[in-house]
Amino acid sequence: MSKSARPKTVIPLHEARGALPIPAAKPVIAGAALADARGRGLHDLRISVTDRCNFRCTYCMPKDVFDADYRFLPHAEVLSFEEIVRVARLFRDLGTQKIRLTGGEPLLRKGIERLVAMLREALPDIDLTLTTNGSALKAQAAALRAAGLDRITVSLDSLDDATFRAMNDADFPVAKVLEGIEAAAAAGLAPIKVNMVVKRGVNDHQVVDMARHFRGTGHIVRFIEFMDVGSTNGWRMDDVIASEEVVRRVSAQFPLDPAGANYGGEVAQRWRYRDGSGEIGAISSVTRAFCSTCTRARLSTDGQVYTCLFAQRGYDLKRLLRDGSDDAAIAAAVSAIWQGRDDRYSEIRTAESAKSRKVEMSFIGG
Ligand code: GTP
Ligand code: 5AD
Ligand code: SF4
Ligand code: SF4
Repeated sequence: MSKSARPKTVIPLHEARGALPIPAAKPVIAGAALADARGRGLHDLRISVTDRCNFRCTYCMPKDVFDADYRFLPHAEVLSFEEIVRVARLFRDLGTQKIRLTGGEPLLRKGIERLVAMLREALPDIDLTLTTNGSALKAQAAALRAAGLDRITVSLDSLDDATFRAMNDADFPVAKVLEGIEAAAAAGLAPIKVNMVVKRGVNDHQVVDMARHFRGTGHIVRFIEFMDVGSTNGWRMDDVIASEEVVRRVSAQFPLDPAGANYGGEVAQRWRYRDGSGEIGAISSVTRAFCSTCTRARLSTDGQVYTCLFAQRGYDLKRLLRDGSDDAAIAAAVSAIWQGRDDRYSEIRTAESAKSRKVEMSFIGG
C-alpha cells in the first residue's frame, strides 16, 4: 500500500480494544519461582514512562500517523512515579532482576532522574537501565548516573547525517547523539549499547561503518532486524536484512568469532572481534526467534501489563493500583497473568499475523 493510501489511525489500538480481564488470582507461593505456561520466569520488566517522542522514526512512529491528530495519553492516564515504583517492587518480589525504562523517549518524561533515584532506593540490587534516542543525553547523562542508573542503550541507525535525519524524520543531527554517547561514557554509564535497526536500502550501507566507528571504544553495537511491531510502520519481509547477512558483512572487514551469552535468555547473539577490539550483537527476532527464553514483561505508560511485544491487548494493572487493592492482591494478579502467559509471537509469525493490528512499540516500550 502506498504511503498516501494508508488508512489514517487516530484511535490508538489500546483505546479501541480495551484491556484484557485480569485472570482470577492464584495464590503466590512464597519462595517458589514464578513461571509462565511455557516454563519461563519473570526476570525483566520494561517500563514505558511516556508514549511521546521527539523523533518520528519511520519504522516506529511514522509521521503520517503520529501527527497532530494522534491521541497521546492524557496526563491522568499516565502512571505516577510512586505507582511505577510500587509495581517495580512487586515485580522484584516475583523474581524480576532487571528493569529497563523505555518509551517513547524516556528522557522526555519530566523528572526522569527522580524516578531513577526512587527505583534505586527501593530496589538497590536491581539491574537498572534505560533505552534512549540520545537526543537529550548530553544534558542528562551525569544526573542519571548520579541517581543510580547502571547503564544505558542508545538507538542510532546511521552515522551518515543525511541518512540519520531521514530515518528519525525530525531532522535531528547525528553529531548530537554522538555527543550524548560520549557524555554517557564519561558519566560511567557502561557498557553502552548502541542499537541500530537495519532496513534494506535505507541504512544497510551503514552496517560496516557503524562497526568500524564503535570497535575499540568499549561500546557494543547491536544490529536489529526490522520487525513487524505495531501496525503502522508498513513492514515488509523484503525490507528485513537477516542478521546472518549483517554478521557476514562485518566479519568480511573485521573478522568475528561467536561468543557465548552473558546470561540465559539474552536477546542479542554476541560476536567478538578476533583482534580483541570488542564485540557486536545481532538481534534476530524475525529470522531466529528467541521466544522460548523470553522472560520479559512490559508495563505500558498507562499501567497495562503486556506479556509480549506483539500483543494486541494488555491487562489493566492501573485499575488495581487506583482502586485501593493492597500489594498482596496486585502481586496475586501479576502472578496469575504470568502463569497464564503463552505468547511466542515471533516463533509462529505468519504473513497474516504480520499484518494484524498490534499495539504500537512506542506505547508498550521497546
Ligand atoms: P541487555 O542485554 O540487558 O542490554 O538488553 P536487551 O538485549 O534486552 O536489549 P534492548 O532492550 O536494548 O533490546 C534491544 C532490541 O531488541 C529492542 O529494542 C527490540 O527491538 C528487541 N527486543 C527486545 N526484547 C524483545 C522481545 O522480547 N521480543 C522481540 N521480538 N524483540 C525484542
Ligand atoms: N523493528 C526493530 N526494532 C525497533 N525498535 C523500534 N521499532 C522497531 C522495529 N520496527 C527499537 C529500536 C529502538 C528501540 C526503542 O526500539 O531498536 O532502539
Ligand atoms: Fe522515538 Fe525510539 Fe520510536 Fe524512534 S524508535 S520514534 S526514537 S521511540
Ligand atoms: Fe517474547 Fe513475544 Fe518477543 Fe517472543 S515475540 S521474544 S514472546 S516478546
